[in-house]
Amino acid sequence: MPNKELENSTMSYAFLKINSEMDRLGQQAQAAREREFQLFSALQLSPKARVLEAGCGPGFITGLLAAFFAQGNVTSIDLREDLLQLAKKRNADLKNVEFKKGDFCQLNEADESFDFIYCRLALSHVPDPVAALKEFRRVLKKGGTLCVTDVDDHSVIAQPEGETAHQLLAHAAQRQAEMGGDRYIGRKLLGLCNQAGFGDTKVQLHPFTVQGEDTMGLLPVYFEGRLAYLNPVEQKALERWTKNLNTALSQGTGFLSFLMFAAIARK
Ligand SMILES: C[S@@+](CC[C@H](N)C(=O)[O-])C[C@H]1O[C@@H](n2cnc3c(N)ncnc32)[C@H](O)[C@@H]1O
Repeated sequence: MPNKELENSTMSYAFLKINSEMDRLGQQAQAAREREFQLFSALQLSPKARVLEAGCGPGFITGLLAAFFAQGNVTSIDLREDLLQLAKKRNADLKNVEFKKGDFCQLNEADESFDFIYCRLALSHVPDPVAALKEFRRVLKKGGTLCVTDVDDHSVIAQPEGETAHQLLAHAAQRQAEMGGDRYIGRKLLGLCNQAGFGDTKVQLHPFTVQGEDTMGLLPVYFEGRLAYLNPVEQKALERWTKNLNTALSQGTGFLSFLMFAAIARK
């Protein structure tokens, strides 16, 4: 694990270099921004909502939440002090956001305090997602809404594909699982929400596909985050494969698509 502070932590989030990880998260947020805006709009939530952002990381999505719930307020929580500092700096001008260091599996928040909870690409990093979801349910007001978005590595479709790529993704997922995470959580979100006591849960699938120059960024966004879970030989192999895929995509002979899963649960 690259960060000493996290050596005994029970989360599986890891990256090789903070600068490239910040670029990756920033591009990821940019790629999904419009869809996220549509997702929030469809939920028909009040702009006055009290919002919890669980696992805010460096705060790339915090500004969108703060703008969307402009008459409400946003509490953004993360375990990592270094990322929280970046989030504070990035969002220093926002008046309706409070950043807090904490574990969203054990929130230091009163029962029924939030109208909306957004957990984006963070539930796949905790060893006991049901415990986290129960905690979200505890702090959600009656009638409140939870939205969890996350990935599932089996949803990746690539051309050229190659056995190596699948093996490498599987190795990375296995290492993440050993650290207490789950790269295949997408398909489990419905069941996990039900187990946590959310009776009313719907899962939406959002496809992301590389189609032309302006979507090429999806390639590093998806695969660079896997490198931290691989050994140096595997890292080189993944880099070779993504380079080939990049060439094929640029030449118009390749294909890359993956799904984002969004579970929407009402209390
Ligand atoms: C892949 S990053 C996503 C960050 C942000 N949500 C985004 O979409 O850009 C996952 C984040 O979840 C945080 N995280 C993981 N487990 C956590 C926990 N139990 N409590 C609080 N934060 C957690 C990590 O520190 C990391 O910042």
